[in-house]
Amino acid sequence: MTALNDVTTLEIDGDIAVLTVNNPPVNALSAAVRRGIVLGIEQAIADAAVKGIVLACAGRTFIAGADITEFGKPPEEPWLDAVIRIIEASPKVVVAAIHGTALGGGLETALGCHYRVAVPSAKLGLPEVRLGLLPGAGGTQRLPRVVGVEQALVMVTSGTPIGATLAAEKGLIDALAPEDDVLAFAVAFARKVVADGMPLKKVRDLRVSAEPAVFAAFRRANARKFRGFDAPEYNIRCIEAAVSQPFDEGLATERGLFMQLMSGVQSRAQQYLFFAERAAQKIPDLPAGTATRPVRKVGVIGAGTMGGGISMNFLSAGLPVTIVEANEKALERGVGVMRGNYENTAKKGRLTMEAVERNMSLLTPSMSLHDLADCDLVIEAVFENMQIKKDIFEKLDGIVKQGAILASNTSYLDVDEIAAVTSRPQDVCGMHFFSPANVMRLLEVVRGAKTSPDVLETVMQLARKIGKAAVVAGVCHGFIGNRMLELRQREANKLILEGAMPWDVDRVIYDFGFPMGPFQMADLAGLDIGWSADTSKGVTLRDQLCERDRRGQKTRCGFYDYTEKREHTPSPIVEDLVLKQSAAHGVTRRQIGDQEILERCIYPMINEGALILEEGKAYRASDIDMVWLTGYGFPAYRGGPMFYADTVGLKTVLGKLREFQAMSEADFRPAPLLVRLAEAGGKFTK
Ligand code: 3HC
Repeated sequence: MTALNDVTTLEIDGDIAVLTVNNPPVNALSAAVRRGIVLGIEQAIADAAVKGIVLACAGRTFIAGADITEFGKPPEEPWLDAVIRIIEASPKVVVAAIHGTALGGGLETALGCHYRVAVPSAKLGLPEVRLGLLPGAGGTQRLPRVVGVEQALVMVTSGTPIGATLAAEKGLIDALAPEDDVLAFAVAFARKVVADGMPLKKVRDLRVSAEPAVFAAFRRANARKFRGFDAPEYNIRCIEAAVSQPFDEGLATERGLFMQLMSGVQSRAQQYLFFAERAAQKIPDLPAGTATRPVRKVGVIGAGTMGGGISMNFLSAGLPVTIVEANEKALERGVGVMRGNYENTAKKGRLTMEAVERNMSLLTPSMSLHDLADCDLVIEAVFENMQIKKDIFEKLDGIVKQGAILASNTSYLDVDEIAAVTSRPQDVCGMHFFSPANVMRLLEVVRGAKTSPDVLETVMQLARKIGKAAVVAGVCHGFIGNRMLELRQREANKLILEGAMPWDVDRVIYDFGFPMGPFQMADLAGLDIGWSADTSKGVTLRDQLCERDRRGQKTRCGFYDYTEKREHTPSPIVEDLVLKQSAAHGVTRRQIGDQEILERCIYPMINEGALILEEGKAYRASDIDMVWLTGYGFPAYRGGPMFYADTVGLKTVLGKLREFQAMSEADFRPAPLLVRLAEAGGKFTK
């Protein structure tokens, strides 16, 4: 075996040369890898004894893409596009041997090979769109030539990889290899190509066609999903070019659009989020290899919307759950809702009925906390009331086995105060799920003052197992997400008192990229959460709406009027109530522009984020951004509130906060960290 450089080797196996990439952890296409591949191909071509070449990877995966850490740095030659052209032009057959994942530039490289073989568990995809990009090394031109326009459109705009079996059906791979020996299979395959005189298939020579209507229909069908993002549209244009232009012109179109995306803020934001997601899993003071506790059985207290949703996460991951509810009817209803949710998913074809039954068979409904005695993890998801929670934790302390993790799903309350009623505060933490808990990705893991490292590590790993994006938060009112949300809510309410209408605020927030504005969100959640007719004073707008039975979507009216299909229109009744509120507060209403609405809603949140950072309630700015991305629908192409602040400029944010502060009471006092960074020309994110 010859080392071509640090990350590539060439081994001659009789008449076949095996070119191996070994660049852990994921064999990303760094400049050295690109150089090594070119060297290897050239040497194999020059060696008269070699008749064919296999491109393979060591370690856990085939090439998982370009090296994202090189983005933004001056590009080094050879460019990937050139490497792939060298492979494709090789006069000796090149076979890609794929295991693990062939992603992005990795799949593009494989598409430059004459044949591709893969193990059944392999996944192949072009995920660039998730980084705000498009496959920039011929992927958009080659993929549709192999799998057809419709499949290619789905793959490049979703970024979701497909499995090897489907890839084989679509012609993306030429043969399925045995799971445990792709290399030997690929070598034999290359020999067969040589022996049988099979052609050197060059994808660039294939033709692809599609009616323009296909593209129009695809854009229409996905308009909502793609809203605000540049990359999906650019990917579609490239596929159009693959149909309408000769191969080399299509490549040029792809390159031009790639460069535009690469220099834009959206791709910077999405690449930042890629690393943010991985950084969030790292807890600074937790040594690598921190032990974890086994979690084989979970208990959930409360069978309401939250408790049910939380349970579903574990059931879906194959973990048995005992769900406890005090009242029989509520328990039955809760279990029914869970089954209904699973069945709906099955109706949509995203789950088999066997899986529904399997999941439900893992559920044990109970009316006694004593049934939680042997659980490894118990999550309390009852009414948000400190006394009730304390009572439950006191009881759990006497019931549940030692060593179990006791977690509260509180969204605001002091986890240390809850932990203090137990004799084992080191086993207590917060696990704050977001509604609907079986769908939303975010899990705020609240680290109490005494939470032990192995509890934290266990919960972080478990979160990954159930498909959540976990972020550690310190104990404070509302933790990271809700603490910041409160500021946006405060400003939204003030804005409508001062002159805006709820639908003005919602439109601005929606246009910024959130799935909905604060008043639509309130209607969705229900305006009567925590409200009661007995105690209502009829003073606040919410009191007045609830008293008129305008409780939100469930009563088909709240801030908006709703049709049966849940389409919303502004309500004249609400408009009238809003005007009366202003009058009652002696406020002379004024015209409020969209820019002010945006800045008033977002900048105080950023300021609160700075306070959270400064107080050490979040480890890093990117953790705050992950919370907002995965829990509140902050548009990914803006990177999250802290990244967004950096793109706007901290001086600008600070200046506006001071301006707002001068206009009203001291609601906008800038966080010292924000002041320091703004004055030093610094940023929140790296
Ligand atoms: N470049 C640089 N580093 C990468 C990387 C890449 N393409 N992909 C993964 N890494 C790093 C991660 O940051 C992580 O580093 P860390 O250990 O220091 O945190 C490490 O590799 C392991 O990654 P994961 O924790 O994500 O490991 P998993 O096993 O869970 O997942 C994976 C592996 C499925 C390959 C996943 O890492 C992934 O999806 N990677 C990104 C793939 C991608 O987007 N490729 C396209 C790149 S863009 C491109 O190719 C442009 C081209 O068209 C020109």
